Amino acid sequence: MSNLDGVFPPVIDLASSGVPAQIDEVCRDVGFFQILGHGIPDDLTAELFEVADEFFGQDLEEKMRWSSQQVEVERGYSAKGTEGFSYSLALEQPPDLMEGFSVGLEPLPDRPEFHTEAHYFFAPNIWPDRPAGLREAMLAYWDEGNRVIHRITTLMALALGLDEDYFEPFTDASTDTLRINYFEGRPGETALPGQFGIGPHTDYGMCTLLLADQVPALQAYTKDGQWRYIVPRPGALLVNLGDLMARWTNDRWRSTLHRVTPVLASDGRSRRRRSIPFFHEGNFDAYVECLPTCTSPANPPRYPPITGGQHVFEKAIASRELRKADADSTVGDRAEALA
Ligand code: OGA
Ligand code: NI
Repeated sequence: MSNLDGVFPPVIDLASSGVPAQIDEVCRDVGFFQILGHGIPDDLTAELFEVADEFFGQDLEEKMRWSSQQVEVERGYSAKGTEGFSYSLALEQPPDLMEGFSVGLEPLPDRPEFHTEAHYFFAPNIWPDRPAGLREAMLAYWDEGNRVIHRITTLMALALGLDEDYFEPFTDASTDTLRINYFEGRPGETALPGQFGIGPHTDYGMCTLLLADQVPALQAYTKDGQWRYIVPRPGALLVNLGDLMARWTNDRWRSTLHRVTPVLASDGRSRRRRSIPFFHEGNFDAYVECLPTCTSPANPPRYPPITGGQHVFEKAIASRELRKADADSTVGDRAEALA
C-alpha cells in the first residue's frame, strides 16, 4: 500500500516529504515508528552510551549515593527491583529488572502550577561526580531531544488536521523526563516467572523519543495480538505514543503496549542493554479532551477529559510504589489483553 510496509516498525525520514500522512498511518496501526533525519549527532549518542556504561558499571553502594530520597521525585539513580511498570496498568507483577538514572526540569516557581503536585516534576537534578562527562552529555542530549520531540508534535498536529502549533499551549512547560535504562544480566542471575526488564505498560504522556542500542529485548504488542521485537536500525531513533495522545485522538492513534524481556547472562558471560527514553508528558495542567478532528456523531468521545499531569503522576507513582494504579487511569482495553 505505501512505502511504510515491510520494515518493523516503519521508518520515517523527517527530511522527506509527506511526513504527516506517514505519521498518521503508523500511529493508527503500530503506534511505534523509527525516525531518520532527526539531526542528533552520532558522536553524542555514542558518548551517552559510554557514560551510561561507566556510571552503571560502578558498585551498587556508589550508585545508591545518587538516588532520590522521595518516591514522588524521579531524579537520579533507581536500583533493580525498585519499580514495576505494570503497576501503572493496575497489574501485579514481580518488580522490573532494570536500573535507571533520570533527569528533568529544575524548579520553575514562576509557573502557577508549580505550586501543586506538579512541583514533583520540577525538582533539582542529582548529578553524580563520576563519570565526569555524564552531566554534559545528558544536558546536550536533553536539548536535542527537546528539539526533535517538538518537531514531532508539530508534525503530529498536522497529521491530525490541526494547526501545526496546536499542541504549543499544552507543552510550553512540559514535565519531561530523560532517563537512561540499564539492563544487565550477570552470571547466576535469573528472572522470576512473569518478571521482565520492564513489565508490560503503555507510556503515560504524549509521546516518547527512544534511543536504544541494538540488543533485542523491547517488544510491542501488535494489533493482531503478537509480541514483536523492535530493534532500531543504525542511526534511527524510535518514537512511540503515550496515553494522552490516545485520549486526545479518541483512540484513532494507539498508545501501544510494550515490554522489555529480561536481559540475562548466557554462556556464563554478562550481557547488557541500554535504552534512553525522553518522555514528553505535556504541561502538568494540560486539559486533555477529545480533539475536534477525532470525533463525529458516529464516533463520540470515549474518554472523559482529564488533567494530563494527574494521569502521568498517578501512573508514575504507582510504578515506583509497586502498588496498582487507579484502574480509571488505564486506557481502553490495554490491560485486558494481558489478563
Ligand atoms: C520505557 C520503555 C523501552 C526500552 O522506558 O518506558 O518502555 O526499550 N523502555 O527500554
Ligand atoms: Ni515504555
